[in-house]
Amino acid sequence: MPSFPVQTPQRNYQAIVERGALAKLGDHIPAKAGKIFIVTEWDVWNMHQGPVLEAIQGRPFQVIFFSGGEVNKRLVSVEALADQVLLGGGDRSSIVIAFGGGIVCDTAGFLAAIFMRGIPVIQIPTTLLAQVDAAVGGKTGVNLAEGKNLIGCFHQPLVVIIDPNVLSTLPDREYRAGLYEIIKCGVIADASLFEVMVREREAVLAQHPETVDRIVAGAVRIKAHVVTEDEREEDLRRILNFGHTFGHALEAETKYSRFLHGEAVAWGMNAATYLALRCGILEQSEGRRILDCTASYGPIPSLEGLSAAALAARLQADKKTIQGKIHFVLPEAVGRVRITADVTGEAVLAAIQTALAA
Ligand SMILES: NC(=O)c1ccc[n+]([C@@H]2O[C@H](COP(=O)([O-])OP(=O)(O)OC[C@H]3O[C@@H](n4cnc5c(N)ncnc54)[C@H](O)[C@@H]3O)[C@@H](O)[C@H]2O)c1
Ligand SMILES: [Zn+2]
Repeated sequence: MPSFPVQTPQRNYQAIVERGALAKLGDHIPAKAGKIFIVTEWDVWNMHQGPVLEAIQGRPFQVIFFSGGEVNKRLVSVEALADQVLLGGGDRSSIVIAFGGGIVCDTAGFLAAIFMRGIPVIQIPTTLLAQVDAAVGGKTGVNLAEGKNLIGCFHQPLVVIIDPNVLSTLPDREYRAGLYEIIKCGVIADASLFEVMVREREAVLAQHPETVDRIVAGAVRIKAHVVTEDEREEDLRRILNFGHTFGHALEAETKYSRFLHGEAVAWGMNAATYLALRCGILEQSEGRRILDCTASYGPIPSLEGLSAAALAARLQADKKTIQGKIHFVLPEAVGRVRITADVTGEAVLAAIQTALAA
């Protein structure tokens, strides 16, 4: 089964994509490690504790529950988790296992990054979004009241264990939201992965194991490669933001309550595609393929009542502006994108209007 190397100045490790990989967790815990602290959510633990418990049999461990949700992805939760680790006898030899969706991965990863100035973390993502995105790459952190992920640091894991078996219990909407991030990977860097998403739509939606394993591995391969080339998002890693500049504006404008992240990214990819068409860097037929593909995994929640001008204003507030200029990741063809700040305000507004009306 595929395993993808991630090489960064901080650490080299593998992102393993394998059905049943959870059962082999024990092989990845260093023999000299002290107590293991599993940070997870109740529901996830109830559904999937079996193989984890079996794999760590005989090792000292403690399960620490985290309430989850964006509202709890805050510094105060990290402090509460750290208190529990300490009370549980945690020390510098301890390790953290982040076992959950992206919120657990980010929060538990950050806890590991700062507990006693840093202890190792193993990432075991359990949502599709976390498997193909959040758990690989070492970005950890929490939200401030003013915005998402504004506090954090890079803390690369010992290993990322991606077991597609856990996806079977995921609510359909969460699963589909993750699929948009896979479409994103196809558009930015892998035309054949994009083709699988188009051709095998039914198998993807029905979660046929072979198809799911293939698309998850396809997306993880790209994320691992991009992070290896550019850990700190100075250059190449920015291509992962395709659909995200517009998507973040949509999430913020709707107060993170109407759209799941992946759904906002789907809309954002549409807006970026309309912008690329307007700028003349993308052919109509290629643009159509992208728009049709995102639509075929829909619908996303209604866009009714949203103002294009308000969304355009939100773009300026994105933390990824560089010296006040917004850099857009625009498709040139399926499988290839360009990063550019060379677009007019009118073109951006028109692209948003078209994406809202579509
Ligand atoms: N660090 C990064 O590079 C990075 C990248 C992308 C996203 N993120 C972050 O990830 C977060 C979003 O992650 P998410 O979409 O996974 O949301 P999430 O962690 O809230 O999980 C979504 C829901 O699925 C449930 N769940 C998790 N695994 C399940 C399973 N196997 N079966 C059934 N239910 C399950 C959770 O309890 C939760 O209710 C955001 O905070 C975002 O900022 C981080
Ligand atoms: Zn994303």
